[in-house]
Amino acid sequence: MLDKLESVYTDGIAALDAINDGDALRDWELTYLGKKGALTELMRGVGALPKEDRAAFGKRANEVKEALTAAYAARDDIVKAHALALDLVGGEIDVTLPGRTAQKGGLHPSTHTLRRFYAIWSTMGFQVYRSRDVEDDETNFTLLNMPPYHPARDMQDTIYTTTPNVILRTHTSPGQIRAMRELGADGTAPIRVIIPGMCYRFEQITARSEIQFHQVEALCVGRNIKMSDLKGTVAEFARRMYGDSAKVRFRASYFPFTEPSMEVDVECFLCGGEGCRICKYAGWLEIAGSGMVHPTVLQNGGYDPREWSGFAFGMGPERITMLRHGIQDIRYFWGNDLRFLEQF
Ligand code: DAH
Repeated sequence: MLDKLESVYTDGIAALDAINDGDALRDWELTYLGKKGALTELMRGVGALPKEDRAAFGKRANEVKEALTAAYAARDDIVKAHALALDLVGGEIDVTLPGRTAQKGGLHPSTHTLRRFYAIWSTMGFQVYRSRDVEDDETNFTLLNMPPYHPARDMQDTIYTTTPNVILRTHTSPGQIRAMRELGADGTAPIRVIIPGMCYRFEQITARSEIQFHQVEALCVGRNIKMSDLKGTVAEFARRMYGDSAKVRFRASYFPFTEPSMEVDVECFLCGGEGCRICKYAGWLEIAGSGMVHPTVLQNGGYDPREWSGFAFGMGPERITMLRHGIQDIRYFWGNDLRFLEQF
């Protein structure tokens, strides 16, 4: 039996030395060290030996087992290294290939501008109020002092739905009504909100007009709110948005939901008022429509216009983004062309 043990050992080592791949190595392990392997079989037979020979056999059998196990582990290392070397020579792994860099996403330019708006307005005490994209005709127009057949309705070409009176909002101003009704506590609480959101118009799509665009409405309602509050607030916003030296000017205008109404211009931030292509050599850029909230609108929002007053204005973030980055065509915004989007 001891002789058999020695030949298992020498055969095993010899067979191992000839092995160069993983499959053969696993076969070898089964043949020599496995539960039904040669060594195990021999060790099971120890009972058949005369008592006095058993200890010596057992000791040698353990030595052989340890030696074969160690030789197996060493061969395993060699086989793995061999396989890797073959891969490298065969070119299956080319470690000289440059890696693939992960693509980083970015924020949409409109989102950039909107977030700047939120940051600035929040430091000025205005909370974000989210109104709805799908409006009813009454809130979008009538309650804003534009009853049916009012000519000002023609200024905003409307996208209607198949449901009567359900439309896509043409501006964020109907959010004024909803904010007053929801936050005003039946006309007893002051309000300071901005209302950002997408607006929709049935327009011919051109470089200058899209059927969808953002607006950011601002609304402030309180006791003794005056025109000077409107002017001061807008001027402060312009300073925070365009820098300390930013100047604003107000031009008389008309909107049905404000009285008086004004358009707000900011001194051209590209040429500093000198006159350039972007401001069409006027030195000023139009950034918002504004005014004192019309008494009828206050009333529709639940406030008594004899005691409460307010100002409102509406800004167009895409327009501001276009001016800032010299973007010539508004269609880029929703065209989803990565070559455009990746520039921001
Ligand atoms: N809603 C107007 C528009 O879309 C913009 C506007 C003008 C909003 C004057 C206002 C405002 O709040 O006071 O053309």
